[in-house]
Amino acid sequence: MPIQMHSAQDLFAYQLSCMYVFEQQNVQTLERLSEEVTSEAARGPIQHHLEETREQVGMLEQCFQALDQEPQKVTVHAAQGLTQDHDAFVKLKPDPELLTVYDLEAAAKVEHLEVAAYRGLADKASTMGQKEVARLLREILKQEEDAVRELEAAAKELARQAIKEPALAS
Ligand SMILES: [Fe+2]
Repeated sequence: MPIQMHSAQDLFAYQLSCMYVFEQQNVQTLERLSEEVTSEAARGPIQHHLEETREQVGMLEQCFQALDQEPQKVTVHAAQGLTQDHDAFVKLKPDPELLTVYDLEAAAKVEHLEVAAYRGLADKASTMGQKEVARLLREILKQEEDAVRELEAAAKELARQAIKEPALAS
């Protein structure tokens, strides 16, 4: 059945489905980044958020159960575009330390996108009176906000090292 888009509930279901697809793709991306980065300082926050992202897929499934709905089959072009950007950067054959900084910052960008998406979704769920869904979405939002801080802190530190000790990054 084609997706209906006539009510705020339709919009919510569509956007929730987009995040369900986005998080599944993010699990794959974080797995890849975790293998690619060269330092433990980078791998730690990536693996931490990878575990959370796997949980979030389950929490989004709980949202759909609470709504008595199935996730819609949607394409999230942003996720594909971000992966393509990453692959284009890898083609430049960056020094490993620079790729690590790039990966951390790319992961942080993804989390910023997710924070914006979950703020909107959690707010809509509250307004619709979907208390359990709103609670789950706020829990995910909190994890995303913490992930932004953790990834950015690691990126900042490694970028500083690369700037101050260019020999190590070449
Ligand atoms: Fe996330």
